[in-house]
Amino acid sequence: MQVDQRPIAVFDSGLGGLTVVRELRRRLPCEDIVYFGDTARVPYGTKTPETVLRFTRENCAFLLRMNPKCIVAACNTASAVCLPGLANELPVPVFGVVAPGAAAAVEAVGAGGLIAIIATEATIGSNAYKNAVFQIDTRPAVVQVACPLLVPLVEEGLDESNAIVELTLERYLGPVRRLSPAVVVLGCTHYPMLRGALASFFGKSVVLVDSASSTAEAVASTLGDSGVLVGAARNGRLHCYVSDNPRRFQTVGSRFLGESIHDVVRVCPEELACGRLSLGRTRASA
Ligand code: DGL
Repeated sequence: MQVDQRPIAVFDSGLGGLTVVRELRRRLPCEDIVYFGDTARVPYGTKTPETVLRFTRENCAFLLRMNPKCIVAACNTASAVCLPGLANELPVPVFGVVAPGAAAAVEAVGAGGLIAIIATEATIGSNAYKNAVFQIDTRPAVVQVACPLLVPLVEEGLDESNAIVELTLERYLGPVRRLSPAVVVLGCTHYPMLRGALASFFGKSVVLVDSASSTAEAVASTLGDSGVLVGAARNGRLHCYVSDNPRRFQTVGSRFLGESIHDVVRVCPEELACGRLSLGRTRASA
């Protein structure tokens, strides 16, 4: 087997992409991962496609300096708006979360079923998930719902035990539940954190497709098939970079990652935009 020591690069609009990193580390524990969270410019989900594309290009340009073997767009909004087009501009393979999530939904839906896609406004506006489903199979019915309030609720640490979450789900998703979807696609980095709340809201018979987990599966199998994994038993390292507030990234992000985050380096967003960089190191104890 070939050995490729280069890291896997992952980016997101903020800390939500750590749900994808968590799944990647479960499947590929020996791989080094370098993560960039654009915490100064989050959210992407309410921005125009032009702005999301500009930010995404800058994030990828930054990560390419780390000499990665591939880039994973963990952000659903960035994946929906910028892929597959952006992949043609980059010198390394790029994985998004939409195609694996859509494929998992089609596999789970069965004949004549309804797929509900829940995501940010920009992801829903792009129709990327819906188009990806129909590229595989035109038979399922698809309904799409933007749920913008769920991102801040998750970052506040609210879950199924909280009445605000219940009310918010009812408000956004009550009409969808009445349509009895067979599959619900969690088309946003934050939604896997609400898996329990969504499972009790929709009931046991509904399959929840977690695009973070489907994406990690796709990355692991593609890199494995291409023979570019590290090929040695070792603990892969995680290096994180953010464009603002490294301390909040560490505290809130650890919940998303399921482990502590040790070192986070801040990248100045203005310098990110113009290609110059100055990095400041921050620790949890700082
Ligand atoms: N990471 C974004 C996504 O998965 C959610 C947060 C945002 O709006 O930037 O779409």
